[in-house]
Amino acid sequence: MDALEAIMTRRSEPRMLEEVPPREHIERLLEAGVRAPTHHLTEPWRFIVLAGDERLRLGEAWAAGAAAEGQDPDRFKDKGLRAPVIICVIGRPKHHLPKVVEVEEHHAVGAAMQNILLAAHALGLGAMIRTGAAGFYDEVREYLRLDKDEYVAGFIYVGYPEDKERPFTRRTSFAEKTEWRGM
Ligand SMILES: Cc1cc2nc3c(=O)[nH]c(=O)nc-3n(C[C@H](O)[C@H](O)[C@H](O)COP(=O)(O)O)c2cc1C
Repeated sequence: MDALEAIMTRRSEPRMLEEVPPREHIERLLEAGVRAPTHHLTEPWRFIVLAGDERLRLGEAWAAGAAAEGQDPDRFKDKGLRAPVIICVIGRPKHHLPKVVEVEEHHAVGAAMQNILLAAHALGLGAMIRTGAAGFYDEVREYLRLDKDEYVAGFIYVGYPEDKERPFTRRTSFAEKTEWRGM
């Protein structure tokens, strides 16, 4: 699959089979992730890969965080089981360094996440970024052992897609989003 085909046919896969992709495939996703552009080569990312029972540990931390907010913890305990592998993409912005601009650090992490999604698709895997409140809960941050200057940019759920025929989400044509000048 070439790059354009991968871009044009990728979609988020909310439901995965239980089969666990081989570790070498996950390594290839991470290799693709770290090839993302990064201004000043700050590489403002790291990754925590969760599989097996570690997904339950994430769910327990998530449920504890939700309970502390007054929500029913039972709704969250199994969230980690939505895919056999979860790549937690951790942002480590380095804007304390000279010339480094914070927003560019976030762009770089987003580019790394898109590389992972595209690489997954090219390898026949399904993937989906999920964010939400979980990444901000102290309980989840403690479980992941995040430093103070780190944050969860996204949880990328990875596995084999359950439904390969799902329709694509809609997009506004680029023509409506583009102003041409001098071309
Ligand atoms: C930064 C980011 C965070 C996202 N977080 C969630 C999420 O928490 N829950 C969710 O259902 N989808 C989430 N998504 C996936 C979007 O819902 C999905 O990309 C969108 O519906 C378009 O579908 P597609 O990826 O199949 O084109 C997220 C996407 C991005 C880029």
